[in-house]
Amino acid sequence: MPPYGNFSFESTAWDEIADYTDHLVVTVTREGGLSTMARRVNAMSKGAIKRAVEHQSFQGCKAADVITLSYPSGLKVTAIQLVVLERGEKPEIVRKAGVALAKRLSGKSAVILLGALRHSEQFCLGLALRSYKFQNYKSAEQDKGPDYRVMHDKLSNLRSDFETALSIADGVCLTRDLVSMPANILTTETFADHLLSLAEHGLKVEILDEDHLKELGMGALLSVGQGSKSPSKLVVLEWQGAEDAAAPLALAGKGVVFDTGGISMKPAAGMEEMTMDMGGAGVVAGTMLALAKRKAKANVVGLVGLVENMPSGEAMRPGDVVTSLKGDTIEVLNTDAEGRLVLCDVMWYAQDRFKPCAMIDLATLTGAIIVGLGHENAGVFSNDDQFCSTLLGAAGREQEGAWRMPLSPAYDKLLKSLIADMKNIGGRAAGSITAAQFLQRFVKDDLPWAHIDIAGVAKVKSDTAHSGAGATGWGVMTLNRLVQEMLETG
Ligand code: BES
Ligand code: MN
Ligand code: ZN
Repeated sequence: MPPYGNFSFESTAWDEIADYTDHLVVTVTREGGLSTMARRVNAMSKGAIKRAVEHQSFQGCKAADVITLSYPSGLKVTAIQLVVLERGEKPEIVRKAGVALAKRLSGKSAVILLGALRHSEQFCLGLALRSYKFQNYKSAEQDKGPDYRVMHDKLSNLRSDFETALSIADGVCLTRDLVSMPANILTTETFADHLLSLAEHGLKVEILDEDHLKELGMGALLSVGQGSKSPSKLVVLEWQGAEDAAAPLALAGKGVVFDTGGISMKPAAGMEEMTMDMGGAGVVAGTMLALAKRKAKANVVGLVGLVENMPSGEAMRPGDVVTSLKGDTIEVLNTDAEGRLVLCDVMWYAQDRFKPCAMIDLATLTGAIIVGLGHENAGVFSNDDQFCSTLLGAAGREQEGAWRMPLSPAYDKLLKSLIADMKNIGGRAAGSITAAQFLQRFVKDDLPWAHIDIAGVAKVKSDTAHSGAGATGWGVMTLNRLVQEMLETG
């Protein structure tokens, strides 16, 4: 069962509704107009819907609100849920209505009568995303999830749209699952195993082990994982959906399954949050799954560096000098600035091997981005205005907060080392920017590139547009749309 429940897409089946006992969902307009479906349910419930929309309290209703009519007479359902939606509503409002319904149903099953509603797939996407539940480790909780029977009049034309919506939801939920898993369960090895299982969806999956990475010369990535019992890995996920052999978009993800800080150890309070330090890799995995499941007509390659940052007798020390795959040497002044050490090798390998048309890296990279942007926006850094604006546009249309941050040589100076090509920290000032400057040193000239710091948005303590508290899956929908808008047109 998917972690958001079971969806079925059916033609409207009135004969089953009289005996249905869970929730029944219909739409009404803001002016109190009844959809064809609502009119019929109104008759079956002896005018319950008409009374509700004619009541004075209905005047305050906004698009995407949900009104609950409990235990209506004439029907066996627990409640009729009225979703306020105009006929020509924008897709984002329709998705928002799906989110609102999920909140109201709170895990209960429903028959959802959409009639001929436009953007119905967006409704289902919102419903799925907000119905998501992490299969937690409480021994008493065996949740089977809700059954959603979505009934639509134009099913034959829309079935593939509905399936695409659920493919995207599957991608987002994979990311959320990975981000929510504790580090004793999601190790570098189980993470890699999981990614290998994505091959069943048509992705080409390749796992590079420690020996291989040593041979290649990934001294920066390997230095981070050398204190852990879990072996470091690089996993490559390839999706070849375009008809031609066009250069792929490359996605690189930071996959630190746990970040203690290493020898420059983090304080105890809050350290458990570092189970989400593989969030960038999680977004790459979720995006690749969504692209494969919806059979995107694009070439995209996802690469994730999986390591664990632990202190031990074998761990890297502050002051160590390591050599990156590119060949540049790095003086590690703080072993807690490990994400950039992982990414610089993953990014260099991605460019060397795949000659991508553009590259995006994602990472829970700095606490400083949370100081700057809080939990509302991811920080976006880019060397290319046009690429960046396409990315920000995609994020905006998907209601995932993203805000551009600056790059410039002036910040780059802060990375000067006395004994190596660079150091891995730039001091207290502009912490997120110096991290991005560090990464930019590993981006080849003229390659459109964006770095997204998702430290503030990967996991949150309160609701977002599409998720409850916990892992958000931020970025999967943005990247999916970016692929669609940038690579799949024409
Ligand atoms: N994984 C952390 C960043 C982070 C902090 C992610 C809070 C999510 C929530 C990263 O590896 C880190 O430790 N960064 C240091 C960098 C510093 C040592 C230059 C930081 O932000 O303090
Ligand atoms: Mn760290
Ligand atoms: Zn980290």
